Amino acid sequence: MPLALVGMPGGGKSTVGRQLARRLGWSFLDADAVIEERLGEPIRALFERVGEAPFRALEEEVIDELTRVPQGRVIATGGGACLREANRRALHERCIVIYLRSTPEELFRRLRHDTHRPLLQVKDPLARLRELYAVRDPLYRECAHFIVETGRPSVPTLVNMVLMQLELAGALPAHLARSPVDPPRQ
Ligand code: S3P
Repeated sequence: MPLALVGMPGGGKSTVGRQLARRLGWSFLDADAVIEERLGEPIRALFERVGEAPFRALEEEVIDELTRVPQGRVIATGGGACLREANRRALHERCIVIYLRSTPEELFRRLRHDTHRPLLQVKDPLARLRELYAVRDPLYRECAHFIVETGRPSVPTLVNMVLMQLELAGALPAHLARSPVDPPRQ
């Protein structure tokens, strides 16, 4: 099965996803990047022109397509992908889903200066992150098979944590989950 990462904006889905793919020797696809390529413009520009609804419709189409591969792919989803039941179902049934969980305060620290994310271009982004988190955290949990706390660890450590959880659960063959520098286990 492919791997999919879900979680709030700024939680590291794309960065961790890209490195996970590299470690596994799999391909990496970022659903937002696929959407922007199809649109020929940034997501923020679409939101400004026509609002959120057309974006969500396109997002559903792209998630449906990207999740239809047997394996060998890591998919990073947009922070709002879990809002639609169809997306939660497609992700949960066709992928191993990892929720990268961060608190609104951590996310705020990382996203304070962000100008790309349309939903955060407001006077009080921390309050907005708290509202989004309250609605979405239960949805990410419903969609996910595994939860990884992003907290303090570096990206390589997070990647190792994800791989270890998957190996322990038998969701990935051990040779794939092992770091190239790890000695072979007896
Ligand atoms: C969104 C998050 C964004 C992007 C869009 C909507 C959201 O993705 O899909 O701006 O609803 O939280 P990231 O999670 O990569 O920022």
